[in-house]
Amino acid sequence: MATILSNVLVVIILLLRLSICSDAQFEDYCIADEQYRDDELMYAMKWACSNGAECSALEENKPCFFPNTTKDHASYAFNSYYQNTKHIGGSCYFIAAALLTALNPSHASCVFEYIPYP
Ligand SMILES: *[C@@H]1O[C@H](CO)[C@@H](O)[C@H](O)[C@H]1NC(C)=O
Repeated sequence: MATILSNVLVVIILLLRLSICSDAQFEDYCIADEQYRDDELMYAMKWACSNGAECSALEENKPCFFPNTTKDHASYAFNSYYQNTKHIGGSCYFIAAALLTALNPSHASCVFEYIPYP
């Protein structure tokens, strides 16, 4: 009986460890889905920039202005929104125009932020 109990305990401890491990930080970034039209991305980007994303890096003469494309700018805005709001339930969705990636989309001096969960 004692061995069964201790086996059960071991299993429980292993499961707990597993769930802690699967929560372990892997960096996830939110970017624009290339299949979406620019006007849809633009609309979603404007929404993101006024609902939690920090979009000042996208202005002219700022590090993320180039490449000056809607898709690149939308990716930056979506990621910023996602990183800033994921801990309070924000998601990487944007009328399905966004997707998550583990690849860091940063380029040159344009750094895509990654904020770990607290
Ligand atoms: C950036 O892109 C917009 C939209 O395509 C264009 O109107 C503008 O002239 C571009 N600016 C520069 C500096 O390339």
